[in-house]
Amino acid sequence: MNAVEIETAVSTLASQPFDTTEFPFAFLAAFDNKETTLKRLRKGETNGSDLVGGVLQRNNIHIATCASGQVGETLRALRLSPKTAAAKAKFILATDGETLEAEELATGETVASEYKDLAQHFGFFLPLAGISTIAEIKNDPIDIKATGRLNKLYVELLKENLEWATEARRHDMNHFMARLIFCFFAEDTDIFRGSGTFTSTIDQMSERDGTNTHQVIETLFRAMNIDIPDRASANLPGWADGFPYVNGGLFSGSTNVPRFSRIARSYLLRAGELNWRDINPDIFGSMIQAVADEGERGALGMHYTSVPNILKVLNPLFLDELRAQLEAAGDNPRMLLNLRKRMARIRVFDPACGSGNFLVIAYKEMRAIEAEINRRRDEELNASEIPIENFRGIEVRDFPAEIARLALVIAQFQCDVRYRGPLVARSVFLPLKKENWIICGNALRLDWLSVCPSTGTTVRLVADDLFATPLEQTEIDFANEGGETYICGNPPYLGSTWQQAAHKDDLQQIFEWRTDTWKALDYVAGWFMKAADYGTKTSAVSAFVSTNSICQGQQVPFLWPLIFDTGHEIVFAHTSLKWSNLASHNAGVTVVIVGISNQAQRIRRLYSVTDSGEPISKDVPFINAYLVPSQNVVVEKAMRPLTEVSPMDFGNKADDGGHLTLTPYQLDEMRIDWGIRARFIKQFYGSREFINGETRYCIWIGDEDVDDAMTVPTIARQIELVRQARESSRDAYARSLARRPHSFKTPRIATNHVIVTPRVSSENRAFLPVGVMDGSAVIGDRNFAIYDAPLWNMALIASRLHWVWIATVCVRMRTDFSYSNTLGWNTFPVPALTEQNKAVLTQCAENILFARETHYPATIADLYDPETMPENLRHAHEQNDETLERIYIGRRFRNDTERLEKLFEMYTRMTAAPQLEGKAQPAVKKTRKRAQ
Ligand SMILES: C[S@@+](CC[C@H](N)C(=O)[O-])C[C@H]1O[C@@H](n2cnc3c(N)ncnc32)[C@H](O)[C@@H]1O
Repeated sequence: MNAVEIETAVSTLASQPFDTTEFPFAFLAAFDNKETTLKRLRKGETNGSDLVGGVLQRNNIHIATCASGQVGETLRALRLSPKTAAAKAKFILATDGETLEAEELATGETVASEYKDLAQHFGFFLPLAGISTIAEIKNDPIDIKATGRLNKLYVELLKENLEWATEARRHDMNHFMARLIFCFFAEDTDIFRGSGTFTSTIDQMSERDGTNTHQVIETLFRAMNIDIPDRASANLPGWADGFPYVNGGLFSGSTNVPRFSRIARSYLLRAGELNWRDINPDIFGSMIQAVADEGERGALGMHYTSVPNILKVLNPLFLDELRAQLEAAGDNPRMLLNLRKRMARIRVFDPACGSGNFLVIAYKEMRAIEAEINRRRDEELNASEIPIENFRGIEVRDFPAEIARLALVIAQFQCDVRYRGPLVARSVFLPLKKENWIICGNALRLDWLSVCPSTGTTVRLVADDLFATPLEQTEIDFANEGGETYICGNPPYLGSTWQQAAHKDDLQQIFEWRTDTWKALDYVAGWFMKAADYGTKTSAVSAFVSTNSICQGQQVPFLWPLIFDTGHEIVFAHTSLKWSNLASHNAGVTVVIVGISNQAQRIRRLYSVTDSGEPISKDVPFINAYLVPSQNVVVEKAMRPLTEVSPMDFGNKADDGGHLTLTPYQLDEMRIDWGIRARFIKQFYGSREFINGETRYCIWIGDEDVDDAMTVPTIARQIELVRQARESSRDAYARSLARRPHSFKTPRIATNHVIVTPRVSSENRAFLPVGVMDGSAVIGDRNFAIYDAPLWNMALIASRLHWVWIATVCVRMRTDFSYSNTLGWNTFPVPALTEQNKAVLTQCAENILFARETHYPATIADLYDPETMPENLRHAHEQNDETLERIYIGRRFRNDTERLEKLFEMYTRMTAAPQLEGKAQPAVKKTRKRAQ
């Protein structure tokens, strides 16, 4: 269930007669508990409560119903019950059906309300459904309710009006919804004079069966499009004439309204009943956009980017500086005035703005600063000088683009109410301005200069070849000479394998003439490149949230030299962080934030999180494309280790059509005796065998034993199948191997032992799952192998330092690392190790192996499951890290950023000479100007 569905279920529960016995189960059902779970609780099998009428669900909630007037005592009893603590209940809840009290035990936060108002507090209990929430939603679920109601209305209207669901009418439908939302907001904020006038007019004037609802609404919309002087001749009915002139593009054009069924009409009235005054345009906008998107409707409310996360982009981009200027101004009226003037000419531009949440937050934060200036200057009632049209966006989808504009309008009104009072706010609000500063289009095709023209008098706008596509939309001109432009946002990320032809085309026209390697770039790279190009035409600083893959592995040399070539540098960045949503069932995606500028900077600021989870920032002289405080360097493949570590090879490649390897069943079917088996069959480890403990064997025949082996018919048959598979291969090299069908490609096994590292490993594991196998085992090519090497090599691979290096320099596939011996192992900077160092590291590796042994037969997958990793194994890794990091710097590193800083410093030194010789030049076509 999503948050909206839970709200509906809780509302339904609260509206039904209270049933003392049934309530706890009905409550748990509303929070997404399955019937089987409830059945077991009912039977008492899993109910751990020690109170009469109590239901205790482990790790969740202890509920008790009680006699009238006993709620306070019952809550106390729940709190004091030893069972509550023993079962690790997160919440306690007591109710008598008239009132209700609850407490979240970890925070001590409480709720006390009338029972009938239970649904008002559903946000408080959302963690019961595994949904973590942000404060805004928890305390004030109006945005979720509004989304839920509109969602139902939208779906019902499309059922009734099939033609409105077509591509041709999509815009009309979206525009209609935007108008409705505006009206709901306006009727609850006195903009429509009186309260609830829009909804009550529809209620009174339309038939209950919905037949004329569309006509009533059409008439109201028509009224809102007629200026007051023109009303007399407009022939409006009296009940519509009282509505003000709104227009501003919102009510112009067709006022066509879809037809309503009885159900649609009642959904509309239910939506109108909500108090829309306090909707939060940043939260609401993001949630509501899913209403118009069939694919996303099921996840309503999950798409909201939290305000703190948006501020991680906006603060370092420009808000921190404005606040610092405010601080420095103190009460000095001139300095305050200068700051106000400066802000009036700041443009914020989000070229993937969705429903405008970055723009809304930027606007609200700037209004807060301006209000403080006005307070200090005793000009509290001054009109705002921050033009709403300075907040601009491009959004490819129609509905979010509509909503973005609306969200900004609502934000402006709410700020006016807050800083200038409701009367003034209402008096200046209508009619809305006509210009639409949110463009619906493809940001990678549009010329950004036509959305945000050049600002400086010194910058001449030349007919530009970089921005290929002419913009059909009207250019929005306004005086902003010498103003500043800040580009921000959270553009879409799409790895090269997931891009469709249209995405590739978008990237092609931006990159093809600059580099041969553009096909490997993530879609988000297009926004960085366009921002950098834009920066060469007018003064701008840009910062985007992005997948961290553009700052890792192969994308680094493909993208960043092109950005740096435009004169831009990374001026601030946030290293990998979880970008969680409003209410996320999962932990969210891992992103980075990268700010670029071509204006000279003395210091750059790098934000990161310490190992203990504490956010920190550091001023540094450089930030490189890996987001490491180091000069630009590209980590290049090395064919041999750059340090004294042992060489790492691929495991054995078979190219055998699957016939050299055998499942236990296949081996049994071959019916060979133990002597033959001992000679020609070995244990085989591909990645599944290594990580998940599966069993597989392989045929392993030395060249000198081929004749003997071929006398065994079942072996001979397998070898023949290998030959056939190789011969029919499309790969020429594989075909050449058909002459040696008994053998792997370049067969190799160890004499004593082999250190094994899987080629792909989930980033969710805190450590790379390196292991050691007996020398007789055959390691498949889904693993890397270090044969007969000292065990301290394993200590290096198992370390956090190595994990961080691999995560940074190797390729990632979604949330998996793709380990590389040439890029990750051979390049890994290791200080010169003394014999003593090697001895202690060997001991550390042994301790890790011993710790694993104590959990036999647990597999690597079991042992390195982040949720259940055994304590002694974690401790052994901790010791390994402690030992290794002391070898590097004499103490533990504070966080991964510091680890990388050290590793890059060492790498730069290790490779200084070859880099100078041009060895490390990235695969970039020389940047050239396009033909005029
Ligand atoms: C990750 S969302 C971010 C939206 C919003 N800032 C937020 O946090 O919810 C990316 C947005 O970019 C839009 N988008 C995708 N491709 C686009 C393109 N080529 N041009 C403009 N917008 C695009 C998507 O529709 C989506 O609204």
